[in-house]
Amino acid sequence: MKKRLFKISVVLLAALSIWSCSKTEKPSDATMEKLNVSDYAVSPAGDSIKQYTLKNKNGMEAKIINYGAIITSLTAPDKNGKFQDIVLGYTKPEDYFNGNPYFFGALIGRYGNRIANAKFELDGKTYDLDKNDGSNHLHGGKKGFYTKLWKVDEKGSNDHTLKLDYTSADGEEGFPGKLDVSVIYTLNDDNALEIEYSATTDKKTIVNLTQHSYFNLSGNFTQPITDHELQLKAAQYIPVNNTLIPTGELKNVAGTPFDFNQSKLIGKDIEAADEQLKLGKGYDHCWVLDGKGLRTIGSLYHPATGRVMEVITTEPGVQFYSGNFLDGKYNTKTGGKNEFRTGLCLETQHYPDSPNQPSFPSVVLEPGQKYETKTIYKFSVKK
Ligand code: BGC
Repeated sequence: MKKRLFKISVVLLAALSIWSCSKTEKPSDATMEKLNVSDYAVSPAGDSIKQYTLKNKNGMEAKIINYGAIITSLTAPDKNGKFQDIVLGYTKPEDYFNGNPYFFGALIGRYGNRIANAKFELDGKTYDLDKNDGSNHLHGGKKGFYTKLWKVDEKGSNDHTLKLDYTSADGEEGFPGKLDVSVIYTLNDDNALEIEYSATTDKKTIVNLTQHSYFNLSGNFTQPITDHELQLKAAQYIPVNNTLIPTGELKNVAGTPFDFNQSKLIGKDIEAADEQLKLGKGYDHCWVLDGKGLRTIGSLYHPATGRVMEVITTEPGVQFYSGNFLDGKYNTKTGGKNEFRTGLCLETQHYPDSPNQPSFPSVVLEPGQKYETKTIYKFSVKK
């Protein structure tokens, strides 16, 4: 009898402890995982735009809005543990709504980068796109994905992760096929911002998604990025013509200002007498990245603050744009103006104008296939 009572009480105690554990853990789990949301602004279309704040356990924060899946801020620690915002952005929501002239923080689609003469052919049919960059098409057009209202998948989101979905209609901005797109931003506890892109289509189409954040690791948005050091693991880059469309050639970087295989000060060669630098008004080119699969393709380092950003991606190319078209028309988030070269982009993507360049890796997506790419911006410090 005594033995039985003992057994029952052991079982009861165990059950009680499981119950109390789950009771105490549950509320903290719930707070841990709750998606942080705040009101951002009302868009011209009357949509209530929300801002979502992702946090990690080290104190980093990423803010993203459901308008254009735009990153409006991202903080990272310097070598003294000081957190500062290190991505450019506007001070007023209207500037994101009124066309986002610099594509600050924008999620770019359906096609990142330029398409020559704003047209391409698929199976003998010509598709005409928006000419929003002279006679070329740039970053999905004037009404690209960075102007769209994205749907937040609450179930797939928490305080570290934001999942956004968008359906691009057949014919939108001239592209064929209804494209279902998902973008998952995750700020993980390794101080890495991961971006996972996926898409499916109901008709043969082209896809090249990217993220257009401008980084300035100094945390001072009036300071030129020429004092950053950059490494890009690439033996070749893609020369362009005077409208920044690839000539079709892949050129070796060795012996040119485009060689970043050893980490190099961006300002070192940017003013060199080089035809390609003249055409780009600085660096505005796609590097042909070494290797395949998810790999580290380079890093950005700001010696004065010690901030380091590694870039890891599945993509074959990266557009390094040294902010040559920033022209001081807008205020920065920390005062002063966004002037020439005060931010830089490292846009992981397929090569520009791929639909018209048969020798470049294909950007075609067919029904039944899944487009999947991943890019990680990982932060650390060097003392
Ligand atoms: C392009 C630049 C362009 C900029 C617009 C970059 O991705 O390479 O040429 O001016 O986007 O913000």
